[in-house]
Amino acid sequence: MKTVAVEPGAGEPVILEKPIPEPAAGEALVRTLRVGVDGTDHEVIGGAHGGTPPGDDHLVLGHEAVGVVEDANGTDLEEGAIVVPTVRRLPEGAATNEYFERGEPDMAPEGAYAERGIVGAHGFMAEYFTSPAEYLVPIPEDLASLGFLVEPISITEKALEHAYASRSAFEWTPESALVLGNGSLGLLTLAMCELTLGFERTYCLGRRDRPDPTVDIMDELGATYIDSRKTPIPEIPETYEGMDFIYEATGVAPHAFETIEALAPNGVGALLGVPGSWEFEIDGGRLHNEFVLHNKALVGSVNSHRGHFESAVDTLAQLPDWFVDDLVTGVYGLADFEAAFEDDDTTIKTAIEFSRI
Ligand code: NAP
Ligand code: BGC
Ligand code: ZN
Repeated sequence: MKTVAVEPGAGEPVILEKPIPEPAAGEALVRTLRVGVDGTDHEVIGGAHGGTPPGDDHLVLGHEAVGVVEDANGTDLEEGAIVVPTVRRLPEGAATNEYFERGEPDMAPEGAYAERGIVGAHGFMAEYFTSPAEYLVPIPEDLASLGFLVEPISITEKALEHAYASRSAFEWTPESALVLGNGSLGLLTLAMCELTLGFERTYCLGRRDRPDPTVDIMDELGATYIDSRKTPIPEIPETYEGMDFIYEATGVAPHAFETIEALAPNGVGALLGVPGSWEFEIDGGRLHNEFVLHNKALVGSVNSHRGHFESAVDTLAQLPDWFVDDLVTGVYGLADFEAAFEDDDTTIKTAIEFSRI
């Protein structure tokens, strides 16, 4: 079968032939339909994040997948069911640990997990993949073509759960939300803030000139576009308003600290970006003071568990057609797989199609 893989240092993915995997006991064989591409895939391809499985010289990419159960192999799954796989698994050869036992692999520390298609385990960009049945989340058949959006939406479901939990000790009635970043994760989150979370005012930060397809989506959603070149994040409260909720999806390290300044009193920021080492000066005393005297919170959030995937399926069903049509700028067959990794200002969300229902 064909897979899309990367060799460390190569800087670009290639097609690699591999045997169709055999499901072990408790695993099902899945025929892959589509696999999405996100900023993390670009970081993995560029060598900034992730790594190959132990002893292998390549990594099969892909962590945002949807497929059809081809062989249920004695598990509870139904053959023909549409499923979305979760991302984290135990590291190869490792005994189970408390996080996986509790169904919270997303809270496991580094070393206690592998991530399929990212670090230590092959991903889903293959014509077939196997997975323990417990990590396959069934979705309605009418969502199959967009099922590759369930994983990224689940990332935001988790971040929101943690951010809201941090504000649960008092009566918190957030009205304004700011998303930092107009990539696919940022725009999916903006749509959730606008359409399913009921914020009264939403804002999204980018660094593009109009006309731009991501700014068009912000306009259509009813959000306000903030250009970071004209309005640096610390100036947002005086130019617009202090924000009750901020979601960082740029991967720009200074944004983590600038978030503290852009929050309204009692606000919370969720940090999602995964930057490398990045040194810069900050006035730590002022930020510390701001944090404390205004009861602000920041939460870091990575990955997601099965419950977040299940919530994400409900959210996906609520997103309007026009939004997903504008967000997904390309779905490419294996013959054109390179096009799915192009990263220019006309590309928002892409996917590779391995087969059709
Ligand atoms: P992406 O497509 O690379 O999006 C990042 C966006 O941020 C781009 O649209 C970029 O704009 C914008 N940006 C960068 N610097 C900016 C600046 N100074 N001012 C305004 N906008 C700026 O990535 P993604 O897939 O949406 O993911 C976003 C981040 O979240 C990445 O760092 C990714 O690794 C991380 N992530 C984390 C998790 C998790 O579990 N924590 C899950 C998924 C993704 P331009 O395109 O114009 O450069
Ligand atoms: C994936 C997560 C993963 C994170 C860090 C994200 O792009 O969606 O599942 O935990 O990267 O590797
Ligand atoms: Zn991702």
